[in-house]
Amino acid sequence: MFSFLKPNQTTTQNQGKVIALMNQKGGVGKTTMAFNLAHAFAHQGKKVLCLDMDPQGNFTSLFNVEVPEKHMHHLLVNSVKELKALHSSVLISDVIMKTEQEAGVHIDLLPAGQELSGFELTVAGINAPRQLILKKFIEKYELRSQYDVIVIDGPPTLGLLVVNILCAADGVLYPFVPDRFSEQGLKNILQVVSDIAEMEITSTPKNLGYIPNLFDVRRKQAGSDLAHIKETLGEAFVYEAFTNKVQFGKSLAQRKSVFQFKSSEYKDLQRQFTMMTENVQRELLS
Ligand SMILES: Nc1ncnc2c1ncn2[C@@H]1O[C@H](COP(=O)(O)OP(=O)(O)O)[C@@H](O)[C@H]1O
Ligand SMILES: [Mg+2]
Repeated sequence: MFSFLKPNQTTTQNQGKVIALMNQKGGVGKTTMAFNLAHAFAHQGKKVLCLDMDPQGNFTSLFNVEVPEKHMHHLLVNSVKELKALHSSVLISDVIMKTEQEAGVHIDLLPAGQELSGFELTVAGINAPRQLILKKFIEKYELRSQYDVIVIDGPPTLGLLVVNILCAADGVLYPFVPDRFSEQGLKNILQVVSDIAEMEITSTPKNLGYIPNLFDVRRKQAGSDLAHIKETLGEAFVYEAFTNKVQFGKSLAQRKSVFQFKSSEYKDLQRQFTMMTENVQRELLS
């Protein structure tokens, strides 16, 4: 088996879970939530892999790392035998990065860059199932046995990258901004999930819940908009809303999670993300 971890580094369980943050809309907090959720798990002693699947590479740039020339796009292309002519000489061990964290906190990163936007076109002509490239990639490198949690940050689109993420994930969290425009974006991505179910090519990811973000307490309609959206979302769990928090801006500007601050102004956010990890674990283990 290919292994990029040192032999003495073992995971606490050998079936790590793949969790994706998804919404067709940009600016709803996918990357912010993915980054802080990954840190929340890591601060609980979990071995975490952050997997950037957005060609914009925002997740990648939140970590203090030098982005390599070859990234997720090249690894995914290399994992498809039929694309041999396009393979590049890069190994997963060249791409996977250790990130700088406090002692006892372990987060690795598989970075992305803009070439990933060409993924769809690159795999357009292959015969192998195009939807399952990421799932097979995760299996090929046995990433689940090397990490407890794999957090995927998704792109603000609905194409093949998104289908690949949904086919690879065990569970999905859906951050959204609770205004009257958000409903359609959520419906669209849920439609992709049910399309995957109909294709019967793989199991669909569990809905781990909706995360109302940037809830504007000063806006009169905010409460009723959120109540209305909650009604339309059906059974899945809806998390406590995140309001507009300057602490996000401050921490992300320093490329830090809310868990890297001791001051009391971060306590509430830490609590919200800790609760998220508890809910995710409950949902994925049940
Ligand atoms: N609750 C929040 N309070 C303040 N700023 C936020 C909040 N959530 C997200 N942001 C900021 O909004 C911007 C967009 O968030 P981001 O996570 O990049 O969204 P997405 O990944 O869905 O495009 C970022 O600059 C982020 O720091
Ligand atoms: Mg993003």
